[in-house]
Amino acid sequence: MRTTTLGGDGPEVGVIGLGCMGMTFSYDMETPRDEATSIAVIRQALDLGMTLIDTADVYGPHTNEELVGRALAGGYRDRAVLATKVGIVRDSVEAADPSNSSADRALDGRPEHIRASIDGSLRRLGTDHVDLYQLHRVDPQVPLEESWGAMAETVAAGKARHIGLSEVTADEIKRAQAVHPVTSVQSELSLWTRDALAAVLPYCREHAVAFLPFSPLGRGFLTGRFSSIDDLPQDDFRRALPRFQRDALQANLAIAGRVREIAAQAGATPAQVALAWVLAQGRHVVPIPGTKTPKYLIDNAAAADVELGAAALAELDALPAAQGARY
Ligand SMILES: NC(=O)c1ccc[n+]([C@@H]2O[C@H](COP(=O)([O-])OP(=O)(O)OC[C@H]3O[C@@H](n4cnc5c(N)ncnc54)[C@H](OP(=O)(O)O)[C@@H]3O)[C@@H](O)[C@H]2O)c1
Repeated sequence: MRTTTLGGDGPEVGVIGLGCMGMTFSYDMETPRDEATSIAVIRQALDLGMTLIDTADVYGPHTNEELVGRALAGGYRDRAVLATKVGIVRDSVEAADPSNSSADRALDGRPEHIRASIDGSLRRLGTDHVDLYQLHRVDPQVPLEESWGAMAETVAAGKARHIGLSEVTADEIKRAQAVHPVTSVQSELSLWTRDALAAVLPYCREHAVAFLPFSPLGRGFLTGRFSSIDDLPQDDFRRALPRFQRDALQANLAIAGRVREIAAQAGATPAQVALAWVLAQGRHVVPIPGTKTPKYLIDNAAAADVELGAAALAELDALPAAQGARY
């Protein structure tokens, strides 16, 4: 896979990474998980050049880092650019929503929490350092400079090589940069979630900050897998998201349908078109699609070679806005 540099000073990574969240946590727990398959997916990702491997301490909690640690044992660790996150202590729709001011009970950006958490992450991941340590959310009760100062301490201590932010504004990136370099920003970006295009993505481009789109497949929706909320397991987190509600999802099927048509014209899959559009937003953009399924992994890796012509890109740019807020 072709590669790019993560931010101004970061390591080289494949232009598409792997999100591991769904391997132990989210979107549902009804669907049986097969650890051997998940481990094989992570190792195959490395073989395919998808070297950025993303997890977080809250996924599980802890089980996701443990799984990634087992996958990277036995000689795989050095082939990965290993990224984890700190700062959400109870994941839920409310906690993940950066506009929800009552979510702060689920966030912990206190320096003492960050200092203590890195050691747990390293133990579970079976490594003495992570390549990228990310502040999962800004805690409204803690000045960002204090949280970021503690993140910088993990670099000084040799426990993290680089640090990044998640779901922040351009102003917050700037404030953090005044304390310590920001290598990456991880926020949602996909054909149906384009908020970052207005200010954050251009800011990152101008300031040599890598942008890591999460949920680049629209939490699976853009791949055309769902035609109704009834397709989701009963305990699926997406059932609580506005865009997956019955009427909104029905309206949003027009977006997935058009992606499918453009994919057919391009000789690609809908997932590949969704990823190729994200990649077309700039060389500093490294999406981290999530999968625990070997055939989807191969599908996603091949998106790095899908060239969408100007006409297809213009059509994708012109897709209607999604119905329903993202959280
Ligand atoms: N920073 C944050 O706050 C934040 C928030 C959310 C996610 N993340 C990170 O971003 C990563 C990806 O996001 P995400 O998992 O939310 O959403 P996503 O990547 O948009 O979609 C994942 C879903 O799409 C399915 N899928 C993947 N490739 C496919 C393909 N080629 N064809 C058909 N279906 C496919 C997966 O199925 P299977 O699982 O069944 O294989 C899964 O249900 C996560 O793993 C996590 O690391 C970060």
